[in-house]
Amino acid sequence: MEEANTIAALRGHVAARRASGRSIGLVPTMGALHEGHLELVRRCAEHVDDVVVSVFVNPTQFERAEDLAAYPRDPDHDASMLRALGDTAPAVLFAPSVDEIYPAQPRVTVAVQGGLIEGLCGASRPGHFDAVATVVTKLVNLVQPSLAVFGRKDRQQLQVIRQVVADLNLPVGLLGVPTVREQDGVAMSSRNRRLDAEQRGRARALCRSLVAAVDVAHAAREAGGPIAVADLRAAAMEVLDAAPGVVVDYLDIVEPDSMQPGEPEVASDARLVVAVAAEVGPVRLIDNVEVGDPDDEDALLRAVAPI
Ligand code: PAF
Repeated sequence: MEEANTIAALRGHVAARRASGRSIGLVPTMGALHEGHLELVRRCAEHVDDVVVSVFVNPTQFERAEDLAAYPRDPDHDASMLRALGDTAPAVLFAPSVDEIYPAQPRVTVAVQGGLIEGLCGASRPGHFDAVATVVTKLVNLVQPSLAVFGRKDRQQLQVIRQVVADLNLPVGLLGVPTVREQDGVAMSSRNRRLDAEQRGRARALCRSLVAAVDVAHAAREAGGPIAVADLRAAAMEVLDAAPGVVVDYLDIVEPDSMQPGEPEVASDARLVVAVAAEVGPVRLIDNVEVGDPDDEDALLRAVAPI
């Protein structure tokens, strides 16, 4: 694995590989890597010859300075986790400084318009998705990969990036990889390491609330449908309301493409994203499930075994 801290070094490594006919994939991350990130790398490696992993804690996508300062950073551990992937280890680890990516205040940035960012994290984190769209566009331009891979845990982010690629005609394919969960069902996140043992236990309420929503959808299907969106919400909220120390930011139920609320009642096979964000202690956590996607539902139900 080659390591590059500068754009010039990154471009050199990538150009040499491309010149020898190798296809390139990109896995953008903010470091503090965990098994979920490694899964993104493995999935990327299934489709391309050489994977570039970027590790860059993008300051512009944090609304609060405390959140940026507290974001976990562990560069040596990141590099050794990636090396330990062996055959599927990335060809290049790109870990630039903030000055390398933003040598001056940018005068041109990407702005995401409309309904896609009206709800969920777009509503509670103003400017966040513009900053994500901008840095992802920069990374894609730097690496020029044929494929870029993102986790489905950040479901709205994935949708925003799909829109960026479509609207700006970026010549890159996208792959969304299912959420990887801890043994107790909690979605893997770099932020989990900031939870103490009690908070970590409480964090389980998020995935349990999603299971409650999936159970309602299953019951509606067994009864011959349709699914009442209010029933999904009520079941999920009941779990969250009963959870001590979990401060809900949102529990939104939206259509997967538009990320906007749809009809109050949907056919039993309709797809809906149930997405939750909550503060647990000092940490804001998110999770989601796509109701109507059998793989996503099953993966959640398998991971969140009843206690
Ligand atoms: O999902 C993340 O880790 C970040 O939002 C991303 C896509 C690397 C952009 O900074």
